[in-house]
Amino acid sequence: MKLLITGGAGFIGSNFIHYWLAHHPQDHIVNFDKLTYAGNLENLKDVEGNANYLFVKGDICDAGSVARAMEGCDAVVHFAAETHVDRSISDPEVFVRTNILGTNVLLEAAKKLKISRFHHVSTDEVFGSLPLGTPDRWTENTPYAPRSPYAASKAGADHLVRAYHATYGLPVTVSNCANNLGPYMFPEKLIPLAITNLLEGKKVPLYAPGNQVREWLYVTDHCRAIDLILLKGRPGETYFVGPGNPAFSNLEVVKKLLKLMGLGEDRIEFVADRPGHDQRYALDWSKIKAELGWEPKVGLDLALSKTAEWYKQNESWWKRVKSGEYQEYYKKQYQGQP
Ligand code: NAD
Ligand code: DAU
Repeated sequence: MKLLITGGAGFIGSNFIHYWLAHHPQDHIVNFDKLTYAGNLENLKDVEGNANYLFVKGDICDAGSVARAMEGCDAVVHFAAETHVDRSISDPEVFVRTNILGTNVLLEAAKKLKISRFHHVSTDEVFGSLPLGTPDRWTENTPYAPRSPYAASKAGADHLVRAYHATYGLPVTVSNCANNLGPYMFPEKLIPLAITNLLEGKKVPLYAPGNQVREWLYVTDHCRAIDLILLKGRPGETYFVGPGNPAFSNLEVVKKLLKLMGLGEDRIEFVADRPGHDQRYALDWSKIKAELGWEPKVGLDLALSKTAEWYKQNESWWKRVKSGEYQEYYKKQYQGQP
């Protein structure tokens, strides 16, 4: 099989390429990525020499390069997106362009080239926000209610993907996943930001009061889920992908990290909250378990310790990332905070 992976130089995409080449060594991969600030080819250094792997620099909004890259592929796994909620609040336009228009360009190409499977990687954020302290969970049938420009743009993309199935019979699948953590995660998101700040002797900027709840999944568990959906999922279907462990507040997660790294709670700095901050996400992922036999294998404590260890061992990776354009962004976002 030949796969077109969009956004393969980002966090989950690069983990997925490592995963796929290890588990399906006979398959061919074309990694199509624009290399925005979040795309980093250093994530894929060790597979560059693999004859079954090809990198193509391109923008998913550019129909010509998309068609050339997709030609001859059997399936598409679509990760490429603008993904950071805080950036979507300060600059929504690129989110609409990449996440909605870019997805439409890919769908058009997939329709014309009669691609046999288009898998779209989406997020739990499209469902909005659940109140704290309630047992409610979302299911695949819950109506969409996105609340940030990022979530709204991903929701638009999800609707387009399903529309191409209903209207043109394109064999699509969609997965909505919880927060991921693991290697190669760009240090603007909470977990890698916290770990790298702590390794640098800085504090963790926690949006006050830190009681928001996220569900955390180790990235290889997400990759296994996409593998199963791609090969065994039913066209037209959506599958939730979430963790087995209970959800924790951001404060609890940061406290776990501090304990793991042998540091005290004085290393937390409460900062101004994110506008419109979603309170709680919770997915009922019983469908993928019942239909495809998927279950997460890595609990949160192990996931945090594997992730912290990876950042400790790969200091040069994140130091290079942090010293680039990222620093300017960091200063603007946190305005003189730690
Ligand atoms: P990321 O920001 O780390 O990587 C995104 C990648 O897409 C980068 O390599 C970037 O260069 C590329 N890209 C951006 N715009 C592009 C364009 N116009 N054309 C081609 N490439 C472009 O993202 P991630 O965290 O790895 O997320 C991957 C996907 O998974 C996204 O669709 C995201 O919505 C979804 N998702 C992420 C999480 C999470 O916790 N990170 C959870 C659920 C779903
Ligand atoms: O739920 C899946 C989503 O998870 C993905 O679709 C997004 O692409 C991904 O970025 C992530 O979104 P979040 O907004 O949940 O992740 P982030 O790491 O930005 O924030 C996690 C929580 O931590 C959130 O409640 C906000 C809080 N936070 C975040 C940052 C960056 C802080 O308290 N301080 C921070 O500095």
